[in-house]
Amino acid sequence: MTNLKGKKILLGISGSIAAYKSAFLARLLIKEGAEVQVLMTPSAAAFITPLTLATLTKRPVFSEVSTEESWNNHVELGLWADAIVIAPATATTLSRLACGLADNILVAAYLSARCPVFFAPAMDLDMWAHPATQENVRRLQSYGNHLIPVGGGELASGLTGPGRMAEPEAIVEYLRRFWQGGQSLAGRKVLITAGPTYEPIDPVRFIGNRSSGKMGLALAEEAARRGAQVTLVLGPSRLSPRHPAVQTIRVETAEEMHQAALRHFPDADIGILAAAVSDYRPKEASPEKIKKKSGSLHLELVLNPDIAAALGKSKKPGQLLVGFALETQNELANALEKLEKKNFDCIVLNSLQDAGAGFNVDTNKISILHKNNKISNFELKPKAAVAEDILDEVEMLLRQP
Ligand code: PMT
Repeated sequence: MTNLKGKKILLGISGSIAAYKSAFLARLLIKEGAEVQVLMTPSAAAFITPLTLATLTKRPVFSEVSTEESWNNHVELGLWADAIVIAPATATTLSRLACGLADNILVAAYLSARCPVFFAPAMDLDMWAHPATQENVRRLQSYGNHLIPVGGGELASGLTGPGRMAEPEAIVEYLRRFWQGGQSLAGRKVLITAGPTYEPIDPVRFIGNRSSGKMGLALAEEAARRGAQVTLVLGPSRLSPRHPAVQTIRVETAEEMHQAALRHFPDADIGILAAAVSDYRPKEASPEKIKKKSGSLHLELVLNPDIAAALGKSKKPGQLLVGFALETQNELANALEKLEKKNFDCIVLNSLQDAGAGFNVDTNKISILHKNNKISNFELKPKAAVAEDILDEVEMLLRQP
């Protein structure tokens, strides 16, 4: 039995010459045992006929949200799917997806879906290299979507360079690996904290920080992909995980995050604390907006609970606790102190001294410090890949007697 067997896949096709490869892709997916429903953007039909795809998939192809006779329910389609694969994804479709412009059935179904989304871009090399396209790709990845990298070579324009859609076999292999990864943490429960906390000053203002939640979300998605049951305690972040195995608890303050973490840690095998928790909060939050007066305003701050230290204290044999350290100086010494004090099994160090690392970026550069003084150093890479490195080390710890 292949691991695509029984998977329901929405295959989104947009208007590119590479659309002819989508017929091969549909055929390969079906051969692997997947059910394939094709959605086409209006311009895709200029490159490949709906009849070809309907014949291959044995299902009608949808290219309009509604016609004079019927309405195609994009919400139902989005919820039906185990995965959406958009191949080819043109520059225009990437832009529509990135900004949520749901003026065709493909983007409407994408916005309604809760499943993993994969996109395989196809375009000319200059369009691919343009900052607007690259920004759209980054935005889509930051929402948890998976980029299937473009290939290089001769393009339809006659130019040579990156921009070719990945070959159908490579796309199928990517999906296979995605679902294969789902085994290594099967049966494990993982608790992850992520994002900032907001500590109210009054109904309008708060003390917060620059965390976007991207690092914690990438960890939640990757742990879920490896088969874990994931509880994500997420501070105020505009992002949401897409993987159905991630249960998200939204919180705002450190105290709320503390309560949620205490509730779920006893049942967890692994805790990973990626949240940037405010160490202090205003002693009292004013019920009314504080009015401006002449002179300075003094706020009294009190200590917030240290969630990591509380979990470290309550840790039972067999549970693993992984902390983060965000440092600006004396990185190693500070991280080692936190490793010890908070009773972590290992700690992920990221430094704001490293360009592209830390808050609110799509990449990170980390070192993982272990209790036995072992240090693993990693290159700057996308947070999704960083999450893989962290979970690989966690799995190594799980295997140790
Ligand atoms: O969300 P992103 O924009 O992707 O950014 C990711 C990140 C930079 C926030 C992340 O990679 C990171 O470093 N998170 C930890 C940030 C932090 O607050 O570190 P710290 O050194 O202050 O805290 C040490 C550890 O104790 C952390 O695991 C933290 O979650 C935990 N802690 C801290 C204070 C507190 N009151 N309770 C805690 O649990």
